[in-house]
Amino acid sequence: MIWNYRVRPVLFLALLTAATIPAVADSVKIGLIGEFSGPFQAYGRNIENGMRTYLKMHGDTYGGRKIEIIARDTTGPAPEVAKRLAQELLTGDKVDFLAGFGLTPNAMAVAPLATEAKVPMIVMNAATSSITTKSPYVARFSFTLPQMTAPMADWAVKNGIKQVYTLVADYGPGIDSENAFKKAFTAGGGEVVGSVRTPLANPDFAPFLQRIKDATPQAVFMFLPAGEQGIAFMKAFRERGLDAAGIKLIATGDLTDDDVLMAMGDPTLGLVTTHAYSAAHDSPENKAFVAAYREVSGGKRPNFMAVGGFDGMAAIAQVIEQLHGNLDGDKAMEILKGMKLMSPRGPIWIDPETRDIVQTVYVRRVQKVGGELFNVEFDQFKNVKDPGK
Ligand code: PHB
Repeated sequence: MIWNYRVRPVLFLALLTAATIPAVADSVKIGLIGEFSGPFQAYGRNIENGMRTYLKMHGDTYGGRKIEIIARDTTGPAPEVAKRLAQELLTGDKVDFLAGFGLTPNAMAVAPLATEAKVPMIVMNAATSSITTKSPYVARFSFTLPQMTAPMADWAVKNGIKQVYTLVADYGPGIDSENAFKKAFTAGGGEVVGSVRTPLANPDFAPFLQRIKDATPQAVFMFLPAGEQGIAFMKAFRERGLDAAGIKLIATGDLTDDDVLMAMGDPTLGLVTTHAYSAAHDSPENKAFVAAYREVSGGKRPNFMAVGGFDGMAAIAQVIEQLHGNLDGDKAMEILKGMKLMSPRGPIWIDPETRDIVQTVYVRRVQKVGGELFNVEFDQFKNVKDPGK
């Protein structure tokens, strides 16, 4: 090339420009793996709306980079599908974070891929205790079943319930809650007189409830994955005459999920449950969250999965900001460990030892407020860790 007087200044300018003006930063990509179709389709929608509510309230650019959500549908509890989606997101889209995970089997299937890729995996619902042990890149912003169940057992014993039959869904979170209930309830002097496990897919509760009715326990403790199954369970509980027989019902707040509480209707009035989030939680953070969520979701009420999505997104935003947009999986995990946030549910904290959430567990009763059914908090256990660890 001949360096004539015309080319040289142009070349010099081009080099100068390249050195001093940074290229427009790529977006930070979040691969959202959720249940967007099938019987658990509300999970994906609620989690995504929670994430988008955070971006609406606080902006979508952190550390100079815009956040982009790439949502993928597992179609239900489908570990093989979840794994394939994670592979595509990691190698094809080159996502910086994996997030979402309504159902335990999907989270379990993806955890080894997070390890391999060294990409943080932000769990926004799946609540089987052991999920966080499946990869050092998992951090959980939802809850665990033992964390919600042990306080329920304590409350039941202190409130005169001594004999309980348990009914749980026959997979990770159900088995966790059955074990946690038995442990805490018997430690407090109660007795578990029987236990049944119902299938995760298309359960018919009638025969199980008949068996429980025949055993005449004082109360039933139950856990089912939130949503449609709870509606079917409540209907069968009434139709089989368990409530008429005076058998009490206690549960984690997965039963009285804000997403379906109005659909369950007045038979839920008076139900006592334990959980980390109620749309009726009385705080300025929650009021702002509920209002923004309604706008994002077309008028819906947030539930505990929505708040998991919101808090998980808050954590991601903080990581990007602290790393000034220069993302690195290991550095991200160091920031996530010990992270403290003021959530719409109250203060939350990620235990650096376990990468699992520490939070307040509320005891709530279903009541009518302004003509609508809500889980109204009346007691609380502060700083509860997952007792399974
Ligand atoms: C789970 O699969 O881990 C799960 C699903 C729904 C719930 C709680 C836990 O309500």
